[in-house]
Amino acid sequence: MANVTVIGAQWGDEGKGKIIDWLSNRAEMVVRFQGGNNAGHTIVVGDKTYKLSLLPSGVVQGKRSIIGNGVVVDPWSLLDEIARVGAAGLAVTPSLLVLAENACLVLPLHRELDAMREEAAAQKIGTTKRGIGPAYEDKVGRRALRAIDLKDLASLPAKIEKLSAHHNVLRRGFGHAEVDAAALLASLKEVAPKLAPFIGSSWRELHGAKLAGKRVLFEGAQAVLLDIDHGTYPFVTSSNTVAGQAAAGAGVSPRDIGTVLGIVKSYTTRVGEGPFPTEQKNEVGEKLGERGHEFGTVTGRKRRCGWFDAVLVRQTCITGGVDGIALTKLDVLDGFKQIKVCTSYRLDGQMLDYLPADATQQARLEPVYETLDGWSETTAGARSWAQLPANAIKYVRRVEELIGAPVALLSTSPDRDDTIMVRDPFV
Ligand code: GDP
Ligand code: IMO
Ligand code: MG
Repeated sequence: MANVTVIGAQWGDEGKGKIIDWLSNRAEMVVRFQGGNNAGHTIVVGDKTYKLSLLPSGVVQGKRSIIGNGVVVDPWSLLDEIARVGAAGLAVTPSLLVLAENACLVLPLHRELDAMREEAAAQKIGTTKRGIGPAYEDKVGRRALRAIDLKDLASLPAKIEKLSAHHNVLRRGFGHAEVDAAALLASLKEVAPKLAPFIGSSWRELHGAKLAGKRVLFEGAQAVLLDIDHGTYPFVTSSNTVAGQAAAGAGVSPRDIGTVLGIVKSYTTRVGEGPFPTEQKNEVGEKLGERGHEFGTVTGRKRRCGWFDAVLVRQTCITGGVDGIALTKLDVLDGFKQIKVCTSYRLDGQMLDYLPADATQQARLEPVYETLDGWSETTAGARSWAQLPANAIKYVRRVEELIGAPVALLSTSPDRDDTIMVRDPFV
């Protein structure tokens, strides 16, 4: 199988949605394998813009799409999204979308707990408040409701009772009302028949695809620096975002995840709290944010912006398992006289070529920069390597050198077609 796995290689919002949409033209199936509706992807095709959250980005090209078992699924949010993209002309029917029967559900009680914690915390994480962390906790705690449970309504009351018993202790601690089990049961009964036709088996679908020699695209959400193990803990999301998760979160062999494409923004952004060594809380950061329209798709929060950090991306390519990258938003750097790239850190007088695991050390890192000449020409909308100014090419080559991974794709605008293929990730 010439498959491709796409993951974010920074702190998210690198343009994964755009690249997956572009690649899905050449795939027959697209599979989400972790995360939930904390993800937000903007896909631009001509004069149409699609905002996706839980739906695999393959739906835009009408490709069979799977929400794998590694995803946590908010049923109400999924139905809203299906309705929303339906109104925009994309019919998401059970012949297009499969929801893994063993995917765990995000419930209102998860969203509430996420919000209660964020509001009460002295040190906030800055979550999306979509209930993702609490839902994964219940999954690992073996008390979650799963998609398959929506097909067995008689089993729900006992499962809700077990889950509520756990949550009520926490809610009482926050001075919050206990779970209204009857209301939860009623609303689950309402969505169950709507979702039931989508519920199926991720691993069997993918096994069938393998036997038929179909090309599969595995779609990661979030990014390696938000990975629960490899990210900037505790300022991370609650799932593994590295490529290895594609196998576990979809039900395939690790050998079948194919080439791993890391999506990398030409500078750095982060939403939420946590260390960010190259952050520019100045006019440079403002300019990057303005030119890159750096506002969160999910929460509308302003993204923090800074220079490209090659130390981080070199590390995420290693821990994430990246074979090659798609470098996005090169156009946002157009017109900068000089462009800085972080090549190492200084910590207590020592030079580091990696991100230390300790959060307090991470917060104290001083970036060491290399300065490159910018370009006055525009790269926006470039569709071939030949259209790129010499200094933009130098920048791309230097990034490759520093991170130790080759550029497979370059993106020069939000539009699907403004993409340059340097080498084909499917081969
Ligand atoms: P994702 O979460 O990784 O899918 O990324 P988001 O969609 O949340 O954020 C990326 C934003 O940048 C979106 O608004 C895209 O439309 C936009 N975008 C993607 N690639 C490019 C690019 O090459 N240039 C510019 N200017 N915008 C881009
Ligand atoms: P996409 O797929 C950027 C961040 C949140 C917060 C942390 C934990 O669009 O790249 P969570 O709600 O997951 O418990 O929040 O993770 N975060 C993202 N940041 N892009 C995302 O997804 C993100 N999903 C979660 O801002 O810092
Ligand atoms: Mg996003």
